[in-house]
Amino acid sequence: MQTPEASDPDWLTRGRGHVWLPYAQMKTAGAPLPAARTRGSRIILEDGRELVDGIASWWTACHGYNHPHIAEAVRAQLERMPHVMFGGLAHEQAYRLAARLAALLPGDLDHVFFTESGSVSVEVAIKMALQYWMNRGETGRRKLVAFRGAYHGDTFATMAVCDPAEGMHALFAGALADHVIADLPRDAASLARLRDTIAARRHELAAIIVEPLVQGAGGMLFHDAETLRRLRALADEFGLLLIFDEIFTGFGRTGTMFASEAAGVVPDIVTLSKALTGGTLPLAATIARRHVFDAFWSDNPAHALMHGPTYMGNALACAAANASLDLFEREPRLDQVARISGMLAEGLAPCRALPGVADARTLGAIGVVEFETAPDRRALQQRLVARGVWARPFGKIAYLTPAFTIGDDDLGRLTGALVAAIGDIARTG
Ligand SMILES: Cc1ncc(COP(=O)(O)O)c(C=O)c1O
Repeated sequence: MQTPEASDPDWLTRGRGHVWLPYAQMKTAGAPLPAARTRGSRIILEDGRELVDGIASWWTACHGYNHPHIAEAVRAQLERMPHVMFGGLAHEQAYRLAARLAALLPGDLDHVFFTESGSVSVEVAIKMALQYWMNRGETGRRKLVAFRGAYHGDTFATMAVCDPAEGMHALFAGALADHVIADLPRDAASLARLRDTIAARRHELAAIIVEPLVQGAGGMLFHDAETLRRLRALADEFGLLLIFDEIFTGFGRTGTMFASEAAGVVPDIVTLSKALTGGTLPLAATIARRHVFDAFWSDNPAHALMHGPTYMGNALACAAANASLDLFEREPRLDQVARISGMLAEGLAPCRALPGVADARTLGAIGVVEFETAPDRRALQQRLVARGVWARPFGKIAYLTPAFTIGDDDLGRLTGALVAAIGDIARTG
């Protein structure tokens, strides 16, 4: 029997024909880079090369990789109890985490439903919103208002609230639930249009769903806090629920612990995942305000929320999340985000002068370069890797979302490599 330490030197070759990669045309996708270890802001490849990670593994590893405090918490929990089913059994890590999230989130966002991925937490938010109305006897409210540029996940209910045209799920249009897709109310004209749409269909609508401040996977599109206040006002005017999908923005990414804080808006339901466990284990949460929870509180069993993933509230993942929250309490994460924000803005500014670049923008620890037309993504990525940087440009953008603990040198390497790689592409194609 192989010990865990013994490793097969041919694992990549042996497994290559069997692994189906994410977001990839398998026939033409380049070979993935074999990662051997991680440390801090770095990914160490099997051949010994070290890459500075510019995207913190899809925005999860906010404390850098292998943080000893999280590792110790997970190890201790593994010894005690890796997992027990959540149906009928309780455990300390999940209950502590729920209480801590309720205390951290604004207003009376107090009731936490755990799942294991961001998409599923959005599914649960949608289910909660629809059933909220069903339980109150309003069975016609089955639709959500979602926005162009949005991305909320890859499962069927979440694909239906992604941007229907620009998003990657356009192929499934005919197979998805039909929601109301609108422009974000960024100004008076778009606000008036949205208000008219909602007014005309108010009896069909259950909720508005939005990624607050940044539409991430839809192209790192920023909007201001006023847009979110307008959405809160519209939801209040027409009695709709407001869902903030903070899967990307939660835990400091935009400069405050949650993006909702920047707007002073309390949504009715919020979804969290990604940085929740500091990038170690899959975990997500859907958190509801008291009045949402109260709509399910009943002597009627049919009013219960019928959802319960097998790995719900996984103890290892909750231990990691509790340890991650300890780090937010003990270490100056939001100051680090402010420092990174300044360095990203300064470091990426030279991109604006490069041919083919339409915009360079920064919000919190998110730095974005937008091109006039989609560049050759693979060529750009290869040039970044050659400069010791890991990033994943998509569509018309290249972006950096590093760990909050990244050092100045590594951050300088990220921005310098991106400016240089874009310059190379502009010169040589
Ligand atoms: C805002 C937002 N919602 C939902 C998701 C889906 O999360 P997951 O990939 O964990 O299913 C993502 C993932 O990028 C996201 O950015």
